[in-house]
Amino acid sequence: MNMQDKSRYFEAYARSMRDPEGFWGNAARAIDWIEPAKKVFDPDMGLYGRWFAGAVVNTCYNALDRHVANGRADQLALIHDSPVTNSVTTYTYAQMLREVKTFAAAMQDFGVAKGDRVIIYMPLVPEAMVAMLACARIGAVHSVVFGGFAAKELATRIDDARPKLVISASCGIEPGRIVAYKPLLDEAIRLAAHKVPACVVLQRPQQTCDLVAGRDHDWKELRDKTMAAGKEAACVPVLATDPLYILYTSGTTGVPKGVVRDNGGHLVAINWSMYNLYGVKPGEVWWCGSDIGWVVGHSYIIYGPLFHGNTSIMYEGKPVGTPDAGAFWRVISQHKAAAFFTAPTAFRAIKKDDPNGEFIRKYDLSNFRTLFLAGERADPPTIEWAEAQLKVPVIDHWWQTETGWCIAGNPVGLGQLPVKHGSPTVPMPGYQVDIVDEAAKPLPAGTMGSIVIKLPLPPGCLPTLWQQDERCKEAYFNEFPGYYKTSDAGYKDADGYVFVMGRTDDIINVAGHRLSTGGMEEILASHPDVAECAVLGIKDAIKGEIPCGLVVLKAGVTRPPADIEKEIVALVREKLGPVAAFKLAITVARLPKTRSGKILRGTIRKIADGEPWTVPATIEDPKVLDEIGAALKGRV
Ligand code: COA
Ligand code: AMP
Repeated sequence: MNMQDKSRYFEAYARSMRDPEGFWGNAARAIDWIEPAKKVFDPDMGLYGRWFAGAVVNTCYNALDRHVANGRADQLALIHDSPVTNSVTTYTYAQMLREVKTFAAAMQDFGVAKGDRVIIYMPLVPEAMVAMLACARIGAVHSVVFGGFAAKELATRIDDARPKLVISASCGIEPGRIVAYKPLLDEAIRLAAHKVPACVVLQRPQQTCDLVAGRDHDWKELRDKTMAAGKEAACVPVLATDPLYILYTSGTTGVPKGVVRDNGGHLVAINWSMYNLYGVKPGEVWWCGSDIGWVVGHSYIIYGPLFHGNTSIMYEGKPVGTPDAGAFWRVISQHKAAAFFTAPTAFRAIKKDDPNGEFIRKYDLSNFRTLFLAGERADPPTIEWAEAQLKVPVIDHWWQTETGWCIAGNPVGLGQLPVKHGSPTVPMPGYQVDIVDEAAKPLPAGTMGSIVIKLPLPPGCLPTLWQQDERCKEAYFNEFPGYYKTSDAGYKDADGYVFVMGRTDDIINVAGHRLSTGGMEEILASHPDVAECAVLGIKDAIKGEIPCGLVVLKAGVTRPPADIEKEIVALVREKLGPVAAFKLAITVARLPKTRSGKILRGTIRKIADGEPWTVPATIEDPKVLDEIGAALKGRV
């Protein structure tokens, strides 16, 4: 088969490289602008140039108003399917617009205006979509914080974003456990140096909470009052280059990086991806099974489907246990989803409970065309199982919080390319993906190296970190001049397929969640009995990786190590949150180090994973490795 004949990808990609302004200028025609760009790309603005310079736009208008005006008023914008509350709630485009206009007006009553930050700390409820779009409507910059993070993480984000308003809920619902959000919110506000002027809290019937007089406001009361007063907020024009949101992601220290997303580039790139990459047509039902706390949820639960006139499913449940391993197939079948996007970890969980796919065959999946996987490396056995069971194409694709959309994928809308297991396929238009050595010299096909993207990045990718241009340059642009450093390592094969094999920094990927081991080490080191520590990601059959902490206790500590280990596990849950899935703290006498004092994390990981390992030539004392092997035995 000649791939070139079958897919429009090659032509599209070549044009995006040859004539980026022509390519993205054309894609921008699908967006409603208040004023068009003065320059599709201005190389002199920002850290590496800016897209759609001078254009004026409103993101919420493109997500809602224009669809209501153009015949989609009665089409569902959102299906909220929540097995944990046993409910399905729907909103048409017209209903969603009304809620958003109202809530945006309520936010304006708090003095929230263009450029002000608003933190959203909410579970997967329709009101989270309302809050995000209401911010976009009035030009406020939202920053969503994932519910599985602890109070301290929320406090760090409050201090960095300095919000005028925090929007939250009384509780989230995890299987078998109600997560009370309000105590976490109160604690975060107490810990933060920035004084939060006001909070809006959605009271959920599963567990309500007390409101702090003068500071906290009840979502429903506010909404009803604003609606009764007939107040509605109009769309506030913003520059395409103004920030739409900040999303914090793990950095190499405990201080997360505030990835900024602009309005214009985001609109164009995300809207382009809905058909060209995901192959869905306006009007179809689309499901992205992530959380709004992650970039995947921003781009493909909230923005992408709405820009494109799709119906978006928001699922408040798990792949297994809510109530069983058939939950995904029930949702796809009940709501007639054409495509579904989730993380490989979810499939590993389903495969474990339903190895023969018996649940799959209980449901009519005739509308379902494609499964998309991202968030972590899609291991070939998981893809093969999904392909065999579902009998639809299973498409891995690779991206990062920083890019906001896919770097390498298989463009179903342009014409699907042959799938190679273990590869997310080819670079998307706008991304020149190179594999380079330490001197930024491109490496030949088949050779592993650092994966970098030639600047400028395409529309939708981060222009900078929130108020930290220098940190942005340091983190992404300085090491390989002229390139964006992905911090992923991998190679390209002779057909140009990209293979992403793992991170080059301290980030690990736990059940599709991005976490910094350096950040966890800071927490372990804060325990009064810990002298030294190392946290590394070790293999896990379901979550892909889980963190494992090795600790050396201070001389003179006589308490039982098992007690201290329990305290350390509790400390990570308290400081970072349950999402870290940190359950393994192991006391060791010494850590293996090089003669220059660097901890040999790679070797420890191999020992823990039961992989072959060799004694590094630079090791200070090889006997330590046997001690580590003995300490890990039976525990990992
Ligand atoms: N609020 C509060 N706590 C949360 C939470 C939230 N929004 N999300 C997860 N948690 C908690 C979980 O309850 C769990 O707590 P526990 O230690 O008390 O059991 C902990 O954080 C770890 O959660 P998770 O890693 O999700 O593990 P799990 O065992 O609950 O579920 C999977 C495992 C594989 C089923 C689940 O991780 C999954 O569906 N992952 C999909 C990944 C995904 O969508 N990633 C987004 C990027 S595409
Ligand atoms: P996040 O910023 O949370 O989306 O995490 C991004 C990181 O997850 C990437 O840098 C990769 O290490 C990893 N990742 C995401 N998708 C894939 C994929 N399809 N294949 C391999 N790794 C992936």
